[in-house]
Amino acid sequence: MNETSREIALDTPFKKEVYDGLSSYPKYLSSKYIYDKKGDKLFQEIMELPEYYLTNCEFEILSTHTKAIAEFFRSNNKGFDLIELGAGDGKKTKILLRYLSENDFNFRYKPIDISQNAIDSLTKTLSQELPKVRVDAEKGEYFQVLERLQSFTERKKVIMVLGSNIGNLLHPRAISFLTKLKDVMSDEDLLFMGFDQKKDPQTILDAYNDPTGVTAAFNKNLLVRINTELGANFDVAAFKHWERYDPETGTAKSFLVATKAQQVEIPALGLHIDFEQWETIHTEISQKYDDKTVDWLAGEAGLKAVAQYADGKKYYKNYIFSKK
Ligand code: AVI
Repeated sequence: MNETSREIALDTPFKKEVYDGLSSYPKYLSSKYIYDKKGDKLFQEIMELPEYYLTNCEFEILSTHTKAIAEFFRSNNKGFDLIELGAGDGKKTKILLRYLSENDFNFRYKPIDISQNAIDSLTKTLSQELPKVRVDAEKGEYFQVLERLQSFTERKKVIMVLGSNIGNLLHPRAISFLTKLKDVMSDEDLLFMGFDQKKDPQTILDAYNDPTGVTAAFNKNLLVRINTELGANFDVAAFKHWERYDPETGTAKSFLVATKAQQVEIPALGLHIDFEQWETIHTEISQKYDDKTVDWLAGEAGLKAVAQYADGKKYYKNYIFSKK
């Protein structure tokens, strides 16, 4: 670190994490920063890719097991709150909402998302498509909103996290996330969560390495964001998206690999970074699971699985948890 950089305030989590990650060896960046407006759009495109099986599998599970899942959610005459963390466009959730609405379940849907854009368009489409559903959307980060959920004690809560979003956390952080969820749950509350499963390693590699390059653009959006928001001069074309999958641990890892030696300046951080040719930036993990691992994670967090639903190929599972 030089004198100038010490005078520069790392006054946002983004600045601090980019500084730490790019000053480390090996270098790393957090995948949560991929999701600006452009990143959100690229992720929507990923979900439409034939190789990215996760979305279709979860859609199939929710379509096939709608009644069984909904019956688990049913509660006494006070009804329940269905709280979805990371609701996005709600495409999969609408299957459940439609069933709950058509069968006169007493419930309120509370979608939570970090993107105001997502919240606004979801509220709008729901009022058109499912006008009977009571919607109370909120913009916010998972962990901030979770604290507020503690005050939801009047009636049963069903917390929903779809899309195998938990897979972007390493096991210790996944346990702490599950523990935080457990801490806001009462004995009758449920957690409904999607976990992508271990499978043919080639299927997983293909899902994260599509031939059209959408996943590469999604991964590289981290560098684009650092360029636009922190004034950096990354030559994005001089980085290659690379995916690796370890079938033993179930961990898929994404990297950006420097195809040539280069220097990058990040003025907002007072940081100069040297890349050697073939040096890496680790950007994302997408963990794949089996029942044993899910049971272990849940157990560590004080939760137990009370039901599970799989798609026909057993690529993906949704589990229902309650407090132990
Ligand atoms: C959001 N998350 C669960 C996705 C995943 O599968 O890890 C993000 C993603 N990364 C590359 N493709 C999709």
